[in-house]
Amino acid sequence: MPEGLTRENLSSRLATQVVGRTIEVYDVIVSTNTRATALAREGAPDGTLVLADAQTGGRGRLGRRWYAPAGSSLLMSLLLRPPLEPAQAQRATMICSLAAVDAIAEVVGLDVRIKWPNDLLLDGKKVGGVLTELGLVGKRLYYVVVGMGLNVNLDVSALPDLMTPATSLSAARGEPVSRLDLLVAMLQHLEAHYARLRAGWSPHSAWRQVLATLGQPVAVGTEGGVVEGIAEDVDADGALLVRRADGGVETIRVGDVTLRGHAL
Ligand code: BTN
Repeated sequence: MPEGLTRENLSSRLATQVVGRTIEVYDVIVSTNTRATALAREGAPDGTLVLADAQTGGRGRLGRRWYAPAGSSLLMSLLLRPPLEPAQAQRATMICSLAAVDAIAEVVGLDVRIKWPNDLLLDGKKVGGVLTELGLVGKRLYYVVVGMGLNVNLDVSALPDLMTPATSLSAARGEPVSRLDLLVAMLQHLEAHYARLRAGWSPHSAWRQVLATLGQPVAVGTEGGVVEGIAEDVDADGALLVRRADGGVETIRVGDVTLRGHAL
């Protein structure tokens, strides 16, 4: 893989005990999430990381495609086996988006926010996204695969026309950004967050501080229809609490937010 983003370079710089102790790196793969899911089913250890320079079938949320030309992005999936109930699994996603926000601030000096549930925004434009896939055995959470795509050195004009305006870290910084430095910082933050999560911590209060969505009038597409109101808060498991005009509060676990009056 170009730019020193190799298994050896990563392993030698990582001081983690769990996150990224087992790493697979591909030049091209169908989808890192698909590979991490296969590894999860084969019994791969907690913290296994799958990294690729390009994907031929990168998947986004809600059945969408994820576009990322070779060399442009961080494309990764992390296999976690947290001691959580299935309803708490979003906590694993939350620590990954938090770690990305922390790492970007540290390495690139940019202030990224999260649009509920999983979009990473820079100046209101999408700079990354997270796709989490769960495996259950009976009612027990067997694994969580958290896949993240981050537009690092992406030339945004190379993307197909997208509904959501996109940007990249290099576009905002005006210079290329080291994917290796960013990934190392992110995995270090994740290691710390994951240790606390395993000990029973909910990341929601740190997470809510970087949520762009709170206090905003929103329309949230859910399986049961569109819920409109003010995005008031999130609960310990990352569900969005929306206050409707009639005063009632709706708890939304899965949905797609539109900030009312904005084309986001
Ligand atoms: C979204 O915003 O819709 C989520 C996008 C998640 C994309 C990443 S890229 C690495 C990993 N592998 C995939 O196939 N998808 C995720």
